[in-house]
Amino acid sequence: MNTTERLPEIIQGGMGIGVSTWELAKAVSKQNQMGVVSGTAIDSVIIRRLQLGDPGGDIRRAMSHFPLQDVAESVLNKFFIPGGKSPDEPFKLIPMPAVNMQRSSIELIIIANFIEVFLSKEGHNGVVGINYLEKIQLPTLPSIFGAMLGGVDFILMGAGIPLSIPGIIDKLSRLEPVELRLAVEDNTLSQNFLNYFDPREFRSPSLRELKRPKFLAIVSSDIIAKTLVKKASGCVDGFIVEGHTAGGHNAPPRRTDKPHTQHSQQFTAKDIPNISKIAELNRPFWLAGGYASPDKLREALSESASGIQVGTAFAICKESAIMPEIKQNIIRKSLDGSLDVYTDFKASPTGYPFKMIRLENTMTDPIKIKIRKRICDLGYLRRLYYKGDSEIGYRCPAEPVENFIKKGGTIEETIDKQCLCNGLIATIGLGQIRDYGVEPPIITSGEDYSPITNIVKNVGSDYSAKDVINYLKG
Ligand SMILES: Cc1cc2nc3c(=O)[nH]c(=O)nc-3n(C[C@H](O)[C@H](O)[C@H](O)COP(=O)(O)O)c2cc1C
Repeated sequence: MNTTERLPEIIQGGMGIGVSTWELAKAVSKQNQMGVVSGTAIDSVIIRRLQLGDPGGDIRRAMSHFPLQDVAESVLNKFFIPGGKSPDEPFKLIPMPAVNMQRSSIELIIIANFIEVFLSKEGHNGVVGINYLEKIQLPTLPSIFGAMLGGVDFILMGAGIPLSIPGIIDKLSRLEPVELRLAVEDNTLSQNFLNYFDPREFRSPSLRELKRPKFLAIVSSDIIAKTLVKKASGCVDGFIVEGHTAGGHNAPPRRTDKPHTQHSQQFTAKDIPNISKIAELNRPFWLAGGYASPDKLREALSESASGIQVGTAFAICKESAIMPEIKQNIIRKSLDGSLDVYTDFKASPTGYPFKMIRLENTMTDPIKIKIRKRICDLGYLRRLYYKGDSEIGYRCPAEPVENFIKKGGTIEETIDKQCLCNGLIATIGLGQIRDYGVEPPIITSGEDYSPITNIVKNVGSDYSAKDVINYLKG
């Protein structure tokens, strides 16, 4: 990245599913900082918002700017319900991500990413990023293309080591075909499985090239950052250096002396990233995970960082998509000191540690755990496995146990696994309707929630993204 370019000091971290929605990213970008939308499961988010009637008409307005109007029309015909579906009617689903997706599924991913970026960039000149998880591979190529059609300025990717992504972005900007090597379990012969995407099949004839967004990798150690600088398929323009107190998924604990089991895992001082080694790589970087205060921002700048990335404080502000009653419950508990944030080493089907808030009426509530029946119908976290005869299967340790075992999984892997797909989408008010009620939400947050209490004490519980930025800037 051209280091003379003015970079934002504050990045509002991408928060899935749909928490850092376009309203939040736009509010942050308008303050000359970087707003980041979440690209995770955004196709399901968009079709559920359409089924709720798209109040305000924002999605339909964005769709009217999509270059392929026949795609926009077909998505509207399939999913838009004027006035919204009835509250007890389940949401219509789309086929789960797969290696050979139908053309209509690919088109939906492209237009959904376009919509979220278009709306976040509408009416101002600030910069906007989109966040993806490396572990979710199948929608990645059309997602990046859709975000680029929307004019995204930055692509941020964590939860894995995204070595191939920078080269893919380069090629997509030249409208060249791209491929992504897929992680396949039980692939004992190490066969190469690739996902292909040709942008020329999904563009208007007049389109010749696309702006190349900058690429920021989210890393938890200097070693991974160095590997990316040396081995990535193109330029990694900078890093978000995220410690293990951050919200969402964390990198698994490293460098412990003893081999750890699920039960003995814990973070130690060895998991704290070495900032001076990152600075030696001469790329812009932002520090994340417990950096949301004016003092920590100053500290980050004094360590040669370009600034900080903040999640939790923005997740509770009024522009975030978390349901208002959940936000108010979190604020109440943070003010009286009873908010219980913990690292769950088992819940996430990805196998990565995941930060959870223990809260009544969510998936951490024993009553909800008891009544929820396992189901896998969104499938973003399904892992690929080799079935033999060049065939690929899909499995998730949070799916019904007997199905997972039939597919070669073990019972141990299923223990205490949570359906993050259904739980996280429920957190933003888009939970699926089941015969036992609405899917219970799953709430994630960073360990340090003091920024919430500090901001609420200053400006009240209905604080905005602008209030967060004013607080951080001191
Ligand atoms: C509700 C929530 C959801 C998150 N989801 C994601 C995500 O989808 N992808 C990601 O890279 N980081 C995610 N994060 C991490 C944030 O982007 C950010 O890096 C982190 O929260 C910074 O630490 P802080 O919460 O202490 O400010 C999430 C954080 C929260 C609070």
